[in-house]
Amino acid sequence: MFTRNLDKEEISIIQKIEMFIRDKHDKLQGHDYSHVLSVTQYAIEIAKRIPDPVDPFILICGALFHDIGRVGTGTGRLHGLRGATITEEYLRAIGTKDEIRNQIVRIVVRHTETSMLSPETVAEKVVFDADDLDRLGLMGMLRGMMVGDADRSMDDIIENRLEKRKKDYEKLHFQASRDLGRELYDETLHLIDIIQKSLNQRCSEISKLNLPV
Ligand SMILES: [Fe+2]
Ligand SMILES: [Fe+2]
Repeated sequence: MFTRNLDKEEISIIQKIEMFIRDKHDKLQGHDYSHVLSVTQYAIEIAKRIPDPVDPFILICGALFHDIGRVGTGTGRLHGLRGATITEEYLRAIGTKDEIRNQIVRIVVRHTETSMLSPETVAEKVVFDADDLDRLGLMGMLRGMMVGDADRSMDDIIENRLEKRKKDYEKLHFQASRDLGRELYDETLHLIDIIQKSLNQRCSEISKLNLPV
């Protein structure tokens, strides 16, 4: 649950950050602004549903900045740590208090397993779950396939993009997140099942091929 409402100054800062993020994510494939917006909306929804106290300003800023480290790089490796530096600089420039800034930066670092630092605070876990939820379902799978090398192999798509999607649901921290993602997770499993059946069918068709000799 949110501990309080946002004040006017905070709303104005969030609007400025939103414009900055929208512009930065504009040309990003797979992690465009719709992903950031979706993660922020999921984060707000999870926070409203859980009994644990969450500060709305810290949570929303963390969600908006969470993938800023992906901007300007070809790979997502260490994007949490890279994003933390950009977030730190931005918030320092607008005069955000140390204590608030540190909590937002921690969300950015710990939203991704590539940082090898697990989320610890409630807000960190909420943004981690929100990001995870946006990987579920058809749209999440398509988004995942758009990220990385353009000449990716079918094996890589199956192993890294589809098999990994099955585990996303298990990583969620809150029951509220699992409730929000249940339908999309079922969609993920259904889609993986269709793809696997289709691949098996193709394999059996190939083995039945009769050459005209
Ligand atoms: Fe990320
Ligand atoms: Fe993300």
